[in-house]
Amino acid sequence: MPGPRDPMSVPNPRSIIIDTDPGQDDAVAILLALSVREALRVEAITAVAGNVPVAQTTANVVRICDLAGDTTVPVHRGAETPLLVPLHTAEFVCGPDGLAGGDFAAPSREPTPGNAVEAIVSILRAAPDGGVTVCALGPLTNIALAIRLAPDILPKIASIVFMGGAMNLGNITPAAEFNVFADPHAAAIVLGCGRPMVMMGLHMTLQAIATHEAIAAFAATGTATARTINGMLTRPRPGGLGSVGHPMHDPCVIAWLLWPDLFGGRDCHVQVETSEGPLRGRTTIDWHGRLRLPANVHVVDTVDAPTLFDRIFARLAALP
Ligand code: RIB
Ligand code: CA
Repeated sequence: MPGPRDPMSVPNPRSIIIDTDPGQDDAVAILLALSVREALRVEAITAVAGNVPVAQTTANVVRICDLAGDTTVPVHRGAETPLLVPLHTAEFVCGPDGLAGGDFAAPSREPTPGNAVEAIVSILRAAPDGGVTVCALGPLTNIALAIRLAPDILPKIASIVFMGGAMNLGNITPAAEFNVFADPHAAAIVLGCGRPMVMMGLHMTLQAIATHEAIAAFAATGTATARTINGMLTRPRPGGLGSVGHPMHDPCVIAWLLWPDLFGGRDCHVQVETSEGPLRGRTTIDWHGRLRLPANVHVVDTVDAPTLFDRIFARLAALP
């Protein structure tokens, strides 16, 4: 099970696939990944329905890549709806296009031909064993479909690092975090896939609130990226989400790959509630091993947030 890892202990650049539902925090995560090409090779960015419908999340991926000056990374459109439950989006949080507050131009190009699930399978089949890290920033629908469509890809996955779940209160319901709530069946499939998994749950990501001071210092750099990130992260948010500032949920996934020393956690057994009702999407994290079941996830529970933001903004300052 993956513990903290020296980024130099893996081949550089590390191959990653980003599966995402932009979303302001997804945008920061993608921009961070595109700003560290010496450390991460983004094989593809696959869009999934989540914060907003998949047509919009796909367009948003292209818009974010355009801002970073990357017009070549493959961008694939993924699943239209969750596996079984109806689509549940979150425009009330991220705005009608998912990137409210940001100054993004219209997408410069169409998505890359081929569905996201087929692209994930194809990239993994072409990789060596343990060759690709899957970074999941949204509902796990595409990842679950890929695993079910082509279980032969499993040995190719080095690990699945995902933002999702919660040890304490949820954000979309009292019990559940949005990504897992939005497709609990997909989360159950991925949690049971047997590959190393690293969980960035709300209990940790809510420690990574982008302070207005940190954002202001970055905004002062005056780049287009800085202006857009400032606009997204300083816009007012609806109440009742567990934080006043914008939590950097998804950037924690990419930051883990770059700076695992900033995080703490332990290997645990984790399972997810898939039944309808008030507990749908609840992740039960057996932090003290009471169930005596094998650990399937490295659950991250602490982050050095000030250092995290120093490093993230230092990297983003290199973008246009
Ligand atoms: O619950 C937070 C997660 O849901 C983040 O990934 C956010 O972008 C949304 O997808
Ligand atoms: Ca997301």
